[in-house]
Amino acid sequence: MCGIVGYIGNQNAYPILIKGLHRLEYRGYDSAGIALTSQNGNLSIYKTKGRVADLEEFCKNKDISGTIGIAHTRWATHGEPNNINAHPHYSESENIALIHNGIIENYAVLKQQLIQNGYHFQSNTDTEVLVQLIEYIKILNKTDLFHAVQLTLNEIIGAYAIAVIEKGKTDEIIVARKSSPLVLGIGDDEYFIASDASPIIEYTNKVIYLEDEEIALVSRNEKPKIVTVKNIEKTHEIIQLEMNLSQLEKGGYDHFMLKEIFEQPQTLRDCMRGRIDVSFNHVVLSGIIDHKERFLNARRIIILACGTSWHAGLVGKYLFESFCKIPVEVEYSSEFRYRNPVIYQDDVVIAISQSGETADTLAAIELARKSGAFIYGICNVVGSSIARNTHTGSYTHVGPEIGVASTKAFTAQLVVLSMMSLCLGREKRTIDEKRYRELLKELNHIPEKVETILKSNDSINDLSKIFTYAHNFIYLGRGFNYPVALEGALKLKEISYIHAEGYPAAEMKHGPIALIDMEMPVVAIATDNKMYDKVISNIQEIKARNGCVIAVVNENDTIIKSIADYVIEVPSTEDCFEPLLNIIPLQLLSYHIAVNKKRDVDMPRNLAKSVTVE
Ligand code: AGP
Ligand code: GLU
Repeated sequence: MCGIVGYIGNQNAYPILIKGLHRLEYRGYDSAGIALTSQNGNLSIYKTKGRVADLEEFCKNKDISGTIGIAHTRWATHGEPNNINAHPHYSESENIALIHNGIIENYAVLKQQLIQNGYHFQSNTDTEVLVQLIEYIKILNKTDLFHAVQLTLNEIIGAYAIAVIEKGKTDEIIVARKSSPLVLGIGDDEYFIASDASPIIEYTNKVIYLEDEEIALVSRNEKPKIVTVKNIEKTHEIIQLEMNLSQLEKGGYDHFMLKEIFEQPQTLRDCMRGRIDVSFNHVVLSGIIDHKERFLNARRIIILACGTSWHAGLVGKYLFESFCKIPVEVEYSSEFRYRNPVIYQDDVVIAISQSGETADTLAAIELARKSGAFIYGICNVVGSSIARNTHTGSYTHVGPEIGVASTKAFTAQLVVLSMMSLCLGREKRTIDEKRYRELLKELNHIPEKVETILKSNDSINDLSKIFTYAHNFIYLGRGFNYPVALEGALKLKEISYIHAEGYPAAEMKHGPIALIDMEMPVVAIATDNKMYDKVISNIQEIKARNGCVIAVVNENDTIIKSIADYVIEVPSTEDCFEPLLNIIPLQLLSYHIAVNKKRDVDMPRNLAKSVTVE
């Protein structure tokens, strides 16, 4: 959600900033802009609604010189996505330019005060208040920009990652953050600023992650000066990034989403590597082993997440309850954080987040931490805010996920949850040793089974053509496959904009069955597990009402093949690992339907990859 890029060094800033914005496009946005200070100190802002490509078009024949600049992709929170509301914003005198990611919660009061002091506002954004207030405070206190930013941030309630430059000052950018991510890249005599490492990685792998309420003065040829908003000096260790550029490119696929679906055999292997003993006798998860007592004495596990990560959490509930006999609650972070939840000191909280930046999940963790709970993070982005704000955790190690629709991160989250529940079940002796070994062995075979499913890509593409123009879909599953039904429906709606609902199959008859007719495709997850016969009955109920059924079945199935209208075959596995396989054809089905409908698969409308505002 929203991207920030900044550059100061010896090269021309414009191409670096534009490339950086392109790298951040995956996060989701609706407008883009850039501010540059030229050699003679002129400060120019160019911005427009639409894509970064539109901004490039807009900048043709403009003065884009300068070796210092800031750029932004906006995901509107306050004020519609249009040219005026796009960032950067000028201060009243047009001497200061600012970009911002986040929400200024007390903007309305501040705006009133500024208007009373003669300030005029161009946009409807909360952000413009920030830049105006910086200028007001700078003039009032007769101070420099850095101190004015610092004083201003003490007046602000809300979340921000900001970058600020000033007319005539070709040597410094001021950045700060609170609850929104910001990374500083350290090059040779040059600095990069970005919301995440993706715009930085082709120039340097040395970065500093700013902490909440820190401000940095990034000056040409000088070490960045970092202090808190309360003026406490901070030193930061420089982190070496392991990401590489090829991970950020499409590698011959039409879309990142397809590339990421096809990467899953490898990402699942990467996720298990070094964690499952080769003889399949042991799971080594240091996050659990090093904090064994907390887990063994856990009264309850609370899983906090949003969206797809929440669906993974739901599978986690079934896993932990089956193997560890610990009660599990799966909560939407956004609900949990505002409803005075009961949290015990002996609760273990598992926060799941691909990006590690989801604002609601971060806030929910904070609440749980204050109540004394132990927090375990399952994140993909190394060094992300959630990864840094948990007591311990496991990375999913799938590399950057660029497609807005989460695919490879989801399956890796499931693998981490599977390994955690098996590891803990064994420590608690709530799982039989023989069963534990069988399950580990089977988990190890999952990547090759995913490879088998991916071979059906062409036939799933053919199938997708039959359903591209459906207006509604229902996805049904039971047991471990109920969360898969939810995730399948989410995948379809977010990238194809077709209305889809996921339901526990047996709940159909309590309402949704009224929707069934020939026009409503029903995707039934009907693999051969202990719910198989029950799911057959649920499919029969749909067929009896002329519904059209696409069933996900095992390769040797004959019964459902004779009832359903279409089938997609997957290899069989243990019930608890079925989500890892059954979601793959559903990812492919939504992908192809969206492509047939000519949707922007990697950047669906209105959506953001990292939801850094609440
Ligand atoms: C997934 O396809 C979605 N785009 C979205 O629901 C996502 O899973 C959710 O925003 C949570 O993100 P996180 O895992 O980065 O916290
Ligand atoms: N709240 C700001 C706005 O609406 C920033 C949004 C963003 O993070 O992109 O302009």
